[in-house]
Amino acid sequence: MCGIVGYIGKQKASAIILEGLKRLEYRGYDSAGVAVLRDGHFDLAKKAGRVEGLIKGTPAQKIAGTTGIGHTRWATHGGVTDANAHPHISSDGRIALIHNGVIENYASIKKFLLTKGFTFLSETDTEVLCNLLAYHYQKEPAAPEASRFLESVRKTLRHVEGTYGIAVLCTDCPAEIVAARKGSPLILGVGDGEYMLASDVSAIISRTQNVVYLKDGEIVHITATNFSITTLDAEDVSPVVDTITWKVEDADLNGYAHFMEKEIFEQPAALENTMRGRFAEDGSTAQFGGLNISAVDLRQVDRFHFLACGSAWHACLVAEHLIERFARVPVEVDYASEFRYRNMPLGSSTLFFTVSQSGETIDTLAALREAKRKGYKVLAIANVVGSTIAREADGGVYQHVGPEIGVASTKAFTSQLLVGAMLALYLGRMRDMSFSDGVEYVKALKGVPDLVRRTLETAPKIKEIARRYAHYHDFLFLGRLSLFPVALEGALKLKEISYIHAEGYPAAEMKHGPIALISESCPSVFFVPSGEMFNKVVSSMQEIKARKGRIIAVATENCDLPAGLADEVIRIPECHEAVLPIVATVPVQLLSYYIAEELKRDVDKPRNLAKSVTVE
Ligand code: AGP
Repeated sequence: MCGIVGYIGKQKASAIILEGLKRLEYRGYDSAGVAVLRDGHFDLAKKAGRVEGLIKGTPAQKIAGTTGIGHTRWATHGGVTDANAHPHISSDGRIALIHNGVIENYASIKKFLLTKGFTFLSETDTEVLCNLLAYHYQKEPAAPEASRFLESVRKTLRHVEGTYGIAVLCTDCPAEIVAARKGSPLILGVGDGEYMLASDVSAIISRTQNVVYLKDGEIVHITATNFSITTLDAEDVSPVVDTITWKVEDADLNGYAHFMEKEIFEQPAALENTMRGRFAEDGSTAQFGGLNISAVDLRQVDRFHFLACGSAWHACLVAEHLIERFARVPVEVDYASEFRYRNMPLGSSTLFFTVSQSGETIDTLAALREAKRKGYKVLAIANVVGSTIAREADGGVYQHVGPEIGVASTKAFTSQLLVGAMLALYLGRMRDMSFSDGVEYVKALKGVPDLVRRTLETAPKIKEIARRYAHYHDFLFLGRLSLFPVALEGALKLKEISYIHAEGYPAAEMKHGPIALISESCPSVFFVPSGEMFNKVVSSMQEIKARKGRIIAVATENCDLPAGLADEVIRIPECHEAVLPIVATVPVQLLSYYIAEELKRDVDKPRNLAKSVTVE
């Protein structure tokens, strides 16, 4: 998704903006640009390609002003070209604008502006927005009590349908930035004699930890010494300045080759943080500080409904298993993008959960709003503090795993599994789970970081397997019950960072079609837990073997696999069923990472992908 950075202060804006854009690269983009105000005009540099290329191609002294905006673009309207890169400059040269989102009525606005003599250099909806702003600025009488610039932005946005996070400069206002948001995240950083704008905290954390999270419909007007926030209806908003708890080094590689590798290996510590302070005194259940729903009300819930996208949706499928297994309450799971249009019949005592690492995924946000529109309480499981979904939910659980920079979700995913397991415990102990079972469950949860640490020790073996399997073009991932969603997650990991086709299925589903794919050129990854499903999974493996399919088995230590059945065996520790999905995920995270590395893929910024999908 697009990244936005703005700066106004005493330093050279371009250097700070380009540094911020580099920290936003993980969001996914295909072009970048920066515009700085100097002596009544814009110094502009923008091009298709990486921020690095922009830095190399832009002699720093050429862009010398102290007020500027910068952007990384993830193409929606118009191809990946220099002309389509942001910032866009209005055809009268007065306005520079960057935008994250989609202007749905841009075509009709463009037609109108063409009749007013505006010209266009790009195919983007953003340039239309920029020229519309210039049009209103030209028409806006100089209003002494409020800046003409601010009022023309307000007027412009009232004509816009769609989503936006924008930052705007005007040549007549050398030390002002106006920014606004609706559906795309935007944060104001309050520094020491300087202000910054960013799509997320990682772009500005190196300069300040004091931030204001803008809400939908708000406009911020920043000058060199102050800022004010108003709504589209010009009502004043009293800003709340939050302090970010994580540090800039959390968003650094710290010696790893990729953020994904770092985030895989920091899972033991990350999962400790997810659990910190969340066990009851008596050690028999979990506790959450921010659910904002009483135990009495929670007891009345007769169905839980989870909404999410991608890996977060896989985490919901595991939570479904665990809550139904341990709390005996029915759970429904839907893709957020589907839920909002399905208009399904819903019960009266349903509690909704959204799950989203970024807390900005627009489909999940829209599904949350749809559920609230229907009068339901919605709780959020999210990682980014202060994110839109977290703020619009009625309560919820922060994951506290720190920034996840790699596009492929790893520590955030296992943290979501852990929160799901803790919820199942909490709800179970409110119902039929005994004290002693609760104590045993808590012990299992507390043992998760060590189990993950032990599983990470198989990394060298998995790296060797990855080297031998990197040339295959198709994979199947197969698991049963709570390991079926882990099979889906393993397939998604491999797809999204190595670009290899992979599918996840319940193991027994093989016989209903997918087994037609099996040959020596289509390996299968099986999750093989000891216990009741062991024999069933082994017979599925034998069906594959009989057709010369190669097998990589992720098997718990006590599984006595028939000799020669699996070509590769990755052992994971025996563990409580509630935490098995977490432990079983680690090997397939490593497998996909090492295969992608072997193929020299752009592991942290895979093609076509974005870390947070804030456009529909
Ligand atoms: C996971 O590796 C992907 N990057 C993607 O599926 C992601 O899980 C999905 O876009 C949801 O993101 P969210 O958790 O930030 O809402």
